[in-house]
Amino acid sequence: MHPELDKLEKTFKPSILTKIDDPLLDEYQLELWMKRDDLLHPVISGNKWRKLKYSLEQALSLGADTLISMGGAYSNHLHALAYTGKLLGLKTQGFIRGEQPDTLTPTLLDLQNWGMELTFVSRSAYRGLRHYKGCHDLPGLKPGQYWLPEGGAQALALKGVAELVNEIAIPYDLLCVPCGTGATLAGIIDAVPKSVFVSGFAALKNAGFLKTDVEALLPRPGAPHWDINLDYHFGGFATTTPELMAFITDFEYKTNIPLEPVYTGKMMYALYDLITKHTFKPGLRLIAVHTGGLQGNRGFTA
Ligand SMILES: Cc1ncc(COP(=O)(O)O)c(C=O)c1O
Repeated sequence: MHPELDKLEKTFKPSILTKIDDPLLDEYQLELWMKRDDLLHPVISGNKWRKLKYSLEQALSLGADTLISMGGAYSNHLHALAYTGKLLGLKTQGFIRGEQPDTLTPTLLDLQNWGMELTFVSRSAYRGLRHYKGCHDLPGLKPGQYWLPEGGAQALALKGVAELVNEIAIPYDLLCVPCGTGATLAGIIDAVPKSVFVSGFAALKNAGFLKTDVEALLPRPGAPHWDINLDYHFGGFATTTPELMAFITDFEYKTNIPLEPVYTGKMMYALYDLITKHTFKPGLRLIAVHTGGLQGNRGFTA
């Protein structure tokens, strides 16, 4: 690995496996664990580091001096990218979805403070940017500029995600992960032992397209051991309900594990709901990946 990335990774905390102690799980004879990628780093947290690591390595080996990407006003991806760019001494630029707000969100303020150049683009222009998947694909790129697609979802992301799977040292039956672009899910599908079933939980409404997107990212398409649950979007991306927020508060109170309502909170709600509906056979060991993104909580009031 590039020495600068190696140095950075050495500052990270371990992503431990935490067993969830809850009488409800005993009642249904299930074990539930969390893979705590949220603990890796306060900013470059969760799946952000997993997805960025090998793209950053490629950027550095190509001699890039600028990282360019896209995201929303609360983007965890841009947040991690801006901070990492600052640490690595690379310039960063972000295309932000929608009009510039009168007051910048806490996330956008962080991006600005960490030196990211922000360009606000219309929603239709933003959708257009989604077509550029490869690091050289963005039209008008200058020498030294490296493009990362939305959420860092490119083939190299899968290599980093595989590392989280390889850290799991106990046998298990089901691995669960929240989905935005589906890149983290794809990395997990490709890396788990074939005896393990992988369930993605879509954070977006009408996310049927994700199945095709994930297939397209898989180096070995057609794998039978995965699915995506589309039923727990709570009305849409970043939309919440009092019930979801109450679940998150209660979960943190019981386990001391903070969640956020965009990704991991929805997945954990879904898992508990599915457990009480007898979806999982007694005796199974489930692992849920905490993908971090806790900075996004600043966009929600309790
Ligand atoms: C905290 C968090 N969890 C999960 C995801 C979903 O990851 P992916 O886009 O790889 O599906 C994201 C978005 O990248 C995220 O920020």
